Order: sequence, then C-alpha cells, then structure tokens
Amino acid sequence: MQTLLSRPEYERQVAATRDARMQWWRDARFGMFIHYGAHTLIGRNEWAMAIENWKIEDYEEVARQFRPEPGCTRQWAKLAAEAGMKYMVLTTRHHEGFSLWDSKVNPYNVVAHSGGFDVVKEFVASCREFGLRTGFYFSLMDWHHPDSWRCAFDPEARARFQGFLTGMLKELLGGAYGKIDILWYDVSRPMESHEGWGSLQMNQMVRSLQPDIIINNRSKLDEDFSTPEEHLTATEGKDWEACMTFNRISWGYLDSAQALPYSYNAQGILRMLNTVCESGGNLLLNIGPMPNGSVPPEAVEPLQTTGRWLKAYGDAAVYGRLTPSKVQRASGTGRFTQRGNKVYFWQFIRSPQLIFGGFETKLKAIRLLPTGTPLAFEQTSRQIIVTPPPADRCDQIANITVYELEFEDMPVQHRCSAYPQLHVGERLVE
Ligand code: GLC
Repeated sequence: MQTLLSRPEYERQVAATRDARMQWWRDARFGMFIHYGAHTLIGRNEWAMAIENWKIEDYEEVARQFRPEPGCTRQWAKLAAEAGMKYMVLTTRHHEGFSLWDSKVNPYNVVAHSGGFDVVKEFVASCREFGLRTGFYFSLMDWHHPDSWRCAFDPEARARFQGFLTGMLKELLGGAYGKIDILWYDVSRPMESHEGWGSLQMNQMVRSLQPDIIINNRSKLDEDFSTPEEHLTATEGKDWEACMTFNRISWGYLDSAQALPYSYNAQGILRMLNTVCESGGNLLLNIGPMPNGSVPPEAVEPLQTTGRWLKAYGDAAVYGRLTPSKVQRASGTGRFTQRGNKVYFWQFIRSPQLIFGGFETKLKAIRLLPTGTPLAFEQTSRQIIVTPPPADRCDQIANITVYELEFEDMPVQHRCSAYPQLHVGERLVE
C-alpha cells in the first residue's frame, strides 16, 4: 500500500498535474449527465425511495424489474455526440444503492439482482464508439446498505462501509472498464468531513488506479472542480461545472402525462452554454432515460438542434481556451464570449440596429459567422455602430446569430452601462 500523503502534500501533488489532466475538459465545455437506475421505474424523481418512504424490500422488488434494453447506452452517446457534447457522466450507483454494473462487492446490482446486463460496460463502449470521454457518478450516500447510516456513529460500521465503497471504486476504476476520465462523487452524507469518509486515502487510491482522472469536489476535498447545481454561478479561481436538469425538477426520469415544464429548447440550452463559457466554466446537462433506457422524447430535438448550431459556431465561440470575458453588456440583445482580442457576440434577439457601447480599443473588423462575411461598421469614441445583415443571413438554426468582433488588441471597455453620463472621454474610476 503506498504511503498515505497528508492533505497538503496530496493537494500539492494533485495541483501539479491539474493543467495537463484537465486541458481536454476545459476545452470540452459541454457534457451529458445520465441519471438512470431503479428509480427510473418509479418515474417520480430519483429521490422517490426516500421522499415516498419506501420499505427496502418493496424497493428491491422494483429494482428486480429493471430491464434496460441492450443498445440504450448507444442511443445516449449518439445523441450526446450529435449535441456537440464531448463527455458523458453516468450514475453508476445512485443514492438507492443499486449498482449498474456486474459487481461482486455489491450483489444489489443490475446483473445479480435483476438478471440484466452490465450497463456500465455498455456505456463505456458507447462513449468510446462516439469519441466521448467517460465519467462515473458515484454516490457516497446509500439508502440500501445496512451500515450506510450507522457509520455516522459506529466506527465498525464506518470501516465496513468504507471498505464497501472502496471495493466498488476498485471494480469501476481498477481497469475492468479501461481508462475512466471523471469521477463524479455525490452527497457525502451522513459523514460531513473528508476525514469521516477517508477521502484522502480513497482518492489517493483512485488516482493510483487512474492517474489522469479528474475528481469533483463532493467527497469533501476540493479536488479538481466545483459543481454548482441547477445554477450557472462561476467559482472564482477554480475550475467549475454547472450541472443542470433538463426540466428543473428531477434528475431521474419523470413518468409525466404532460409536456414537462421547464424543458429547454435549443436557444435555452445555448444561453446556458453562453453563460458558462462567458465565465470559463463547463455545462453538464442531464437527461433521465426512460425505463427501457430510451431517451426522453422532449430532449431529442433541442439537443440535436444545439449540436447543429455548435457545428456552425462552436469552434469559434465555445470550444477551447476562452478568455473569461470582461465585456459588460455592450449590447442589450445578447451576451458575449471572448478569445483573446476576438469577442463573440451571441445575439439572442435580432434588432433593426446594432450598437455596441463603450469599447475604447480600435475595432479591426466585425464578421458575421459562420461564413466570416465582413460587415460595415462605424466606430466613435462612444459606440460601434454596425449595419446588421438581412434576416435571411442571420442564424436559422437556433435563432442565435454570432458576430466576431476583432480588435487591434485585447478590448478595453468603459463600464458605460452603469454611468453613460460619465463617459464623455473620461474613464470611470473603477
Ligand atoms: C443532488 C441530488 C441527486 C443528484 C445530484 C446531481 O445531489 O440529491 O439526486 O444526482 O444532485 O448533481
């Protein structure tokens, strides 16, 4: 067993390799979250077992009926690739404690308990087929294992449960499924500290099995990235990924007799993507497959349309190293992303005139993407006034037209949106 590093030593070691390990992730921007499990058969939220106060033996009966159709993971991966997503994260075992792989450590699994096939194995193969990086979601909280709640006050139960968790992690990350790119921990309950979970030891073991792996912040160590949930708020000074449901209410499949409220169209998805790109983060957008594993219909067209838009504009305005944009609301009809001295204006609502306020830096050119057609403009000390293109030259995919503004240098902008009266040639005192 390797010597256990102290927290400072461990964090120094992990930080030293972070840029190299995370380059692909930082450039990827956009991934698909998959919440699938016995909860899917209930169809009333992945927390149904707790919220509806199920008896364990009754829930085990539900899990016994779990029958994903072979090939379902390929549908997920195909849609993710079509959507312009670059990685996927699958719930290998959610809070219900039911493992989606042929586990010898946890007999409560899709093969031994339900007579099905190893979903994790098929998922990994599907990711590889479509050139997607692979992520495993792994819940620390467990509503099935008898020690999972006792470990809060019973050291022997805690030792048994920690052995259970590390045994499963060894099955998932020890090579049987090949190179895994992301470990996505969730809900560190009942213990509230990394010491309680033995996260230092657990994660050093994980990294010894998968040296390039990226780990999120939910085992009570900061690790590689933070995980704002259902909101798009940047974590200052740290990599971050906003995880969002498709319907703003459930990660797991909802057996809904109505069109799901809050389900996004392509423009809604792209606005979220703009927000995370503007501040240098990633978007992990969730779908909850149906009981047989098929993709919920309300997710297909919005994701396919998003992918067509990203095919046209993604390489310029989304993927790769972006500059966290300091452009302040230079136009009220859209938002910005930035790459060095190029600013990408994503226009959500077309207007008959297009004026950008407050840029001091000389504009070299403004181009209409994806063709790069130059547009006429006039630049004064206060404004850049652009002759907008005709409607039929604007984006017809998701109605988000992208303009590339190339400046002579890194663009400097007055915060004119706050105090235009101060602007006349004066600099605002920041
Ligand atoms: C919360 C929910 C869990 C879901 C996770 C996704 O932790 O409890 O059900 O899997 O968010 O980020």
